[in-house]
Amino acid sequence: MAETIPDLRGIPKPRAYMELQGHSDSILENITDDITGMATMSALLHHAFGHLWTGFYRVVVPGQLLRVGPYQGSLGCLEIAFGQGVCGTAAADGRSMIVPDVGSFPGHITCDPRSRSEIVVPVLDAEGDVMAVLDIDSEQVDFFDQDDQRGLERMVAWFATPRQ
Ligand code: SME
Repeated sequence: MAETIPDLRGIPKPRAYMELQGHSDSILENITDDITGMATMSALLHHAFGHLWTGFYRVVVPGQLLRVGPYQGSLGCLEIAFGQGVCGTAAADGRSMIVPDVGSFPGHITCDPRSRSEIVVPVLDAEGDVMAVLDIDSEQVDFFDQDDQRGLERMVAWFATPRQ
């Protein structure tokens, strides 16, 4: 495999995501396994942007429980209930959440005290059901914006694309 992870820090985000999407699409061409997709996207996003924590929480009991999946970074919490913390809220509501300052989010789950801001994007399957969330944490306050949301939602659309 000839793909390497580019360093996209300092590049305008829309361009950075477009480039990373190209890498992701090319690596995952002909891949059908969801865990392989999660592992690949975690590694690409984490190292390209230099995040603190990047990974997936998978729905293991629909409407009730998330369990950690492939990730990069320090140890993540193992399980999160729907409605709990940022991940559980995004999973329950089925919508992306940007938290500019985790200290101001009531119920935020602190897995790593260095985390200052985060974004969580629901991952939908081909039926439109939430199958996981993508959670990214940064050491910088207010790191994530609409460009991140758009880029990440586009990237995780891979999981909803019919594959055989
Ligand atoms: N930040 C998350 C918890 C998971 S970890 O940060 C890896 C939350 O409050 O949902």
